[in-house]
Amino acid sequence: MTLPARMRAVEISRPGGPEVLELAERPRPEPGPDEVLVRVEAAGVNRPDVLQRRGLYAPPPGATDIPGLEVAGTIVGLGAGVAEWRLGDRVTALLAGGGYAEYAVAPTPQCLPIPGDLGPAAAAALPETFFTVWTNVFDRGRLAAGETFLVHGGASGIGTTAIALAHAFGARVFATAGSAERCRACERLGAERGIERSAEDFVAVTREATGGRGVDVILDMVGGDYLPRNVAALAENGRLVQIAYLRGPKAELDLDLVMRRRLVITGSTLRPRSVAEKGAIARALRERVWPRLEAGELRPLVHATFPLAEAAAAHALMESNEHVGKIVLLP
Ligand SMILES: NC(=O)c1ccc[n+]([C@@H]2O[C@H](COP(=O)([O-])OP(=O)(O)OC[C@H]3O[C@@H](n4cnc5c(N)ncnc54)[C@H](OP(=O)(O)O)[C@@H]3O)[C@@H](O)[C@H]2O)c1
Repeated sequence: MTLPARMRAVEISRPGGPEVLELAERPRPEPGPDEVLVRVEAAGVNRPDVLQRRGLYAPPPGATDIPGLEVAGTIVGLGAGVAEWRLGDRVTALLAGGGYAEYAVAPTPQCLPIPGDLGPAAAAALPETFFTVWTNVFDRGRLAAGETFLVHGGASGIGTTAIALAHAFGARVFATAGSAERCRACERLGAERGIERSAEDFVAVTREATGGRGVDVILDMVGGDYLPRNVAALAENGRLVQIAYLRGPKAELDLDLVMRRRLVITGSTLRPRSVAEKGAIARALRERVWPRLEAGELRPLVHATFPLAEAAAAHALMESNEHVGKIVLLP
């Protein structure tokens, strides 16, 4: 198979608004040892890409400057030492960058087979949110069947995946969102109650719904003034897992509550973690979650797709907060 030496990719021409995303020509990447080359059929858009575009989230050392943390497509090249994948295999892969392009290189431990009958857009919508939710809600947060779970930003890419996974694994789910309509979308995905963040108090609603006990696990991307309210909403032995801070990284914390209620406050970022750590998350997903995707019990929610050349419009939609679920680019 002859592959072109150059490819189309989206570059961040300078830090700024969506308009700084420009279609450009780049050399096609070559897979290194234990890497595969994927001909990209679809690439997921994630909020961290928006931060990278604005100059607030640099790619980790060694990663390409092309944005894009996940793709789905066909393996068209194998690096040295690759034994578990073959040319022509269809995969979905978590990347450290480079997804907004016609070709991307992925470390083999971060590749998973496309489950069931999912098309490229749905498959590309899986890695970033499924890896993030699994490692934070189930590993760090230790959410168990029968427990109660609250996710903020429930209508986001991360939020919709968190609701669907927590519900599928037997938790009672609550979700906050920015409008009544977005709350209903969360409920259609499996949340028992969507909570409209500007009109209702999530602490009061979850306390009442749990008979005064509070929730066992919270997944939060908001931070700032949500921290004391999250702590107030947790049950004894509750776990707060922080994955972003859309309202700022600093807030006041009542340590007395943390001690008396034996709370755990933790968090993580996925992108800088090693290939080995991401591979361990991939193995857990393949074992615990992929069978449910294959059976059609779980499905990623794709809100909209855009051609690669319209990456700017995809980012503008993400920043409007009007999407429910994932936004995907189709090279
Ligand atoms: N730590 C990690 O490993 C990791 C990995 C991936 C993503 N993330 C983070 O997770 C978050 C979600 O990512 P995503 O790709 O799913 O993004 P997304 O779809 O754009 O979701 C962000 C959501 O946050 C809500 N929101 C925005 N501004 C807010 C504010 N000021 N106060 C309260 N809620 C606000 C919005 O929902 P409503 O308006 O409906 O409330 C929006 O849907 C991002 O912050 C991202 O950086 C972290």
